[in-house]
This record gives sequence, C-alpha cells and structure tokens, in this order.
Amino acid sequence: MAADKQVETKGLMGWIDARFPATSTFKAHMSEYYAPKNFNFWYFFGSLALLVLVIQIVTGIFLVMHYKPDAEKAFQSVEYIMRDVPWGWLVRYMHSTGASMFFVVVYLHMTRALLYGSYRKPRELVWIFGVAIFLCLMAEAFFGYLLPWGQMSYWGAQVIVNLFSAIPLIGPDLAIWIRGDYVVSDATLNRFFAFHVIAIPLVLLGLVVAHIIALHEVGSNNPDGVEIKEKKDKNGVPLDGIPFHPYYTVHDLMGVGVFLMVFSAIVFFAPEMGGYFLEYNNFIPADPLKTPAHIAPVWYFTPFYSVLRATTENFVYYWFLPFMLAYGVLIFMTVKGRRKLFSLVGAGVAILSLIVFDAKFLGVVAMGGAVVILFFMPWIDHSKVKSIRYRPALHQFIYGVFFVAFVVLGYLGVQPPSPIANIVAQIGTLIYFAFFLLMPWWSQLGQFKQVPERVVFQPH
Ligand code: HEM
Repeated sequence: MAADKQVETKGLMGWIDARFPATSTFKAHMSEYYAPKNFNFWYFFGSLALLVLVIQIVTGIFLVMHYKPDAEKAFQSVEYIMRDVPWGWLVRYMHSTGASMFFVVVYLHMTRALLYGSYRKPRELVWIFGVAIFLCLMAEAFFGYLLPWGQMSYWGAQVIVNLFSAIPLIGPDLAIWIRGDYVVSDATLNRFFAFHVIAIPLVLLGLVVAHIIALHEVGSNNPDGVEIKEKKDKNGVPLDGIPFHPYYTVHDLMGVGVFLMVFSAIVFFAPEMGGYFLEYNNFIPADPLKTPAHIAPVWYFTPFYSVLRATTENFVYYWFLPFMLAYGVLIFMTVKGRRKLFSLVGAGVAILSLIVFDAKFLGVVAMGGAVVILFFMPWIDHSKVKSIRYRPALHQFIYGVFFVAFVVLGYLGVQPPSPIANIVAQIGTLIYFAFFLLMPWWSQLGQFKQVPERVVFQPH
C-alpha cells in the first residue's frame, strides 16, 4: 500500500482500504476537497442536478418494468401504469416532473457558470463536459418524449426527424435511416426506447463523472472569480477553502430540502404544470392520420425551436447576411496574425452558406449552432475578470439583454406562429448570436472593478 495514501489500518475500513481506495477517495473528493468558503445559492444546482439524475434513473427503472415499447401497446401501458400499477402514478409523475426540473436546475447551473466566468481557464474541460452533458440531456428528453406514444410524442418526433431531411444530398435518406421507416413507426419507437433507457444514460453518467473529476482536479470557482489555490497555508490548504464535507454536504442538504418541497408540490398538485410539463395533446393516443393544429416542443427546447422558426428566407437575406458581412469587416479591421486568417475563412464560409443554402436547412444549422457555440465560451470571452461582480456595467447590461432574449425566445417557441411573434423571435435570434459572436470585442470594453486578493465572505 502506498505510504502517502491516507488510509484506515484497522477494522472493516482497514480491510477495505487494503483492497480499494475508499478512505483516500472520500478524503480527496469530500473531506479534504477544499471548496471556496463564499459559495452562495447558485452553488446548490450542481448537487441538485445530481439528485435529479438519481431520481430519473430510479423512477425510470420502475417505469421500464411496466412499460411496453410497442406502437400497439405503448400508450395503453402508460395508462396502465397510471391507473393500475400500485404507486405507478407517483413514479410516472416523478419521472415526467423530473425531466422538466432537470432542465430548470441545469439552466440555472449554466447561468451561474456564465455569471461567474466558471468556464474560463483552468475550467475549460469542466465546461466542455458540461455542454456535452447538456446535449445528451436534450437527446435523452427527446427520445423519452416519444415513448408515451401520444399525439405530441408522435408529431413532435415527426417534425424533429423531418428536420434532418433538410440536409442537402443525404437529408432524405438520413431521415429514413433515423426513423427506420418512411414515417415515425414501431421501428422508431423501438430504437428511441433503446437510446432512452441505455445508450444515452450510459454516456450521460460517464460525462457527469468526467465533469466532476475535471472540476476536482482544478478546484471550484466562486462568486468572486478569485482562484483560492493561489493563497495557501503552510500545509498546502487554500486559506479561503473549507472542506466540502461536512460544510457543503450540510449546505447542499438545505438546497435539497427546498428543492424537494417544490418538486413534491408539482408532483402532487400540478404534474401537468398547465400543459408545460405534460402537454394536453399527449393524453390522446398517437394518430398518424391526424396532425394536431399546433405542434410545439416541451418548454426546455423552445428557445432553440424559436431560432429554427425565426430563420426564414427574409431573415437570412435582410438580417443575417448584413450582420455577417459587418462581422467580416470587424474581423478584418481588428484581428491580427493567424487568427485573422482563421476568422476570415470562418466568416467567409458562413456568408457563402447563407447565400447557397435554403432557409430550412439554415434554420436547422442555426438551431444546432445555438447550442454548439457554447463550447467556445472559454475562448471567446476576453474579459480581464471572471465574475460579473467586477465587470463593467456595460457587461451586466449585455448579460441582462441576453437572458431576456433567451426567455422571450423560449416563450415564443410555445406560442403559435404570428407575423409579430416572428419578428420578435428574429430580433431575439440576432441578439442570441450577437452575444456570442461579438463577445471577443465587447468583453474587453468598459471600466473593470478591482478584484479583491481574497474572496469576499460575510458569515451569517
Ligand atoms: C447532469 C447534469 C450536471 C450535473 C449532475 C452537474 C454536476 C456538477 C456539480 C456537482 C458541480 C460542483 C458543484 C457546483 O459547482 O454547483 C458542477 C460544477 C460545474 N458545472 Fe456542472 N453538472 C451538470 C451539467 C452542467 C452543464 C450542462 C454545464 C454547462 C454547460 C455545467 C457546467 C459546470 C461548471 C462550469 C462547473 C464549475 C462551477 C464553478 O466552479 O463555479 N454543468 N457540476
């Protein structure tokens, strides 16, 4: 046994430690993992995301015991779970509420990272694993939504899979390959079931483990964006760090308490959440011959769905194209060296694509791009400081506009399309992309505040 590993030598733990690094792992990740002492409520959402992940897996296992992935039986089997399986209604409502709450928690978790610059060096990989988790979560929710085989399940899947047919050349064949049929059918249900219950959860779990290992390698950021590892005592312990266990395990338990109250209130009193968590059309069995009047995805997809709908021919020619041309000029005038070449080639390809491809395909690219652009955050933010606390008022204003645009896009995505709503969605889409594409410039502007040497902490 390695001498430097802190382990138990006696009793049951001694026996285990001689064979498995239990104590040393617990110490490294819990009792001797030093987290900044100034965490605030934003830091509840990581552990809450873990909690919801566990809820989803456990309730999912019980649902699979009774669910039938068969186009003839799927809808009935969900009704059977709701009406006849003891506590089945509770398990199903916990799972459906859990899906929405997962996104509530993860959106807040991501907002925290944006506010405090937690994606910046040295946490780039923590962020990249996070964005990959976000993509997986979206895939997981999309595949799961088909399983109850209601009208919205069916037509939602039809609309989304059809988007792939907009890809030039391979699109139509690709859509058939994804569905396993010419329309969404039993074959589609079977493969979506396989992805939902095993393939994506496996990847998701692996990514979550990688996310936390990467975080514990570099240490947590905090609301001040101050690196606590830069000031250590003689034992190598950060002066502003406190052991994660017991301090933050207890702190997080409070977050869990509040979360469970909200979660239970929804599960027991409003599981459909006014049609936002469970859409009313989905209580009608799937009917391939009857298209619902208004097909909208669940709320957590709607900001991105709005981007898709906003990308019309007019939008591409009168808004996006001039924007990208101005962007090319901006790059030409301000960027130097090899970066100039790369950026100009990028802008050139984007402008050419806007001219060559049709709006339907560009909409799909814009929708995907709206998520993929997040991967680049660590490199496009050139601000001198990490945390919003010490950024200029201009940055706080830009962040505010961005968050409002995102929420408005989300709201519009659930509404039926109208000419006015479409213009607002187009403005929202421009703001969304301008926020990221212009970040290398605006993130350097304004009067920055002095970042303190040590974290700011008021005991309460
Ligand atoms: C299943 C979903 C997820 C789980 C279970 C999870 C879990 C965690 C946990 C336990 C932490 C440490 C506690 C905390 O800082 O709150 C953390 C930190 C972090 N997560 Fe996640 N996460 C998830 C999704 C995401 C996503 C989607 C992103 C971003 C796209 C992300 C970005 C980050 C960042 C940047 C940190 C470091 C925060 C800091 O040190 O200030 N995570 N995550």
